[in-house]
Amino acid sequence: MVDPADIVLMNAGEILTLSGASKAPKTGAQMDDLGIIHNGALAIKDGLLVDIGPNDEIEKRYVVDALKRIDVGGKVVMPGFVDPHTHAVFGGSRVEEFELRLKGKGYLDILKEGGGILSTVRATRRLSLEALIGACEPYIDNMLLHGTTTVEVKSGYGLSLDEELKILEAIKRLDEGHPLDIVPTFLGAHAVPDEFRDNKNGYVKEVVAMLPRVKELGLARFCDVFCDEGAFSLEDSRRILTEAKNLGFGIKIHAGEFKDLGGAFLAAELGAVSVDHLDHVSEDGIKALARCKVMGVLLPGVPFFLGQKNQAQARRMIEMGLPIALGTDFNPGSCPTVSMQMIIALGCLEMGLTPAEAVSAATINAAHALGLGRQVGSLETGKRADVIVLDIPSYRHLPYLFGVNHVDMVIKAGKIVVEGKRIVR
Ligand code: NIG
Ligand code: FE
Repeated sequence: MVDPADIVLMNAGEILTLSGASKAPKTGAQMDDLGIIHNGALAIKDGLLVDIGPNDEIEKRYVVDALKRIDVGGKVVMPGFVDPHTHAVFGGSRVEEFELRLKGKGYLDILKEGGGILSTVRATRRLSLEALIGACEPYIDNMLLHGTTTVEVKSGYGLSLDEELKILEAIKRLDEGHPLDIVPTFLGAHAVPDEFRDNKNGYVKEVVAMLPRVKELGLARFCDVFCDEGAFSLEDSRRILTEAKNLGFGIKIHAGEFKDLGGAFLAAELGAVSVDHLDHVSEDGIKALARCKVMGVLLPGVPFFLGQKNQAQARRMIEMGLPIALGTDFNPGSCPTVSMQMIIALGCLEMGLTPAEAVSAATINAAHALGLGRQVGSLETGKRADVIVLDIPSYRHLPYLFGVNHVDMVIKAGKIVVEGKRIVR
């Protein structure tokens, strides 16, 4: 018998440990191995995982008299989801645009006419900092209720120094006031704002000029650029991201959502942490990413929601040894879901991932896409106790019973924050 733990979770039908990939992401066949312990239990102390193993052993080792002992009754226990790509701080909605698109209007055509991202920019600029925080807190709550315990959130609906700083400040305040951990990314180069409609170069210069201020205030860990048709060229992206890299930002790139402009090569050249979307990318582009160990963050909800047939070639990427992660891309225009469970289902149904590969991509590999592979994304002793309990008998039911929330309980850094499908504070 050893020291009492703060919480012991007993009688898990399956514990998905995802162990062995804290130092480097899972690639190839490793993605199909979830490190499952059947009839398992785990112990948590001071916010960390202190023991994981077969139920009998953990039961013998821990005295939890005065503390919390939870019998999960055969359910699935796994690491909290890590969502490595969202645009979760915005004003308004795009429900009218959704209906226009259903009638056949194109996403990029709407943007060209000053709608799309730019309509969200107008709605976001209208809100005060407080109102923006108030509008977005429910999204963060909803993420937590769906089992996400770490999320990346990008700015990008401000498109001027003051408005981008307002969004980054909102992200910081949401992080401080919420159990979910938020990783902030600066995406000043999300679209060219109305004021610079005929002067894209002028706006690129403006973004470069914003970088030192964002850095100085410590408001973003990463810098991202939307490198695609209708947004920023490869040269624009190189200019902004090179400057960002010199200032010490981690680098991310939106590439190949609509067209392959060569963003994968730029990501490889700059040593980006991830390149995101990749619905359109050449074989050589994938090779360059695999060689330079850049994570491919795939966002199957986007082509699904935009009604586009090109999904990223996930199977080919796995075959070629590229580590891949899954994210929601939660935003009002191209994918308004916060549910990583839905994204896991789409990863299987739309991209041909196995359920196990999709789970690896949504946990440990997603953690690596944020540079957090040593802290979160798997259940191993010494790592943060971000644990979720799913009301299903096996992980294989997760994408199969798609479209509903299976998360029953969420433990964030050792504290129960969702119980019986409700947030507890
Ligand atoms: O990842 N690609 C750019 N940004 C988002 C869409 C943002 C929006 O439509 O508001 C994306 O798809
Ligand atoms: Fe995005």
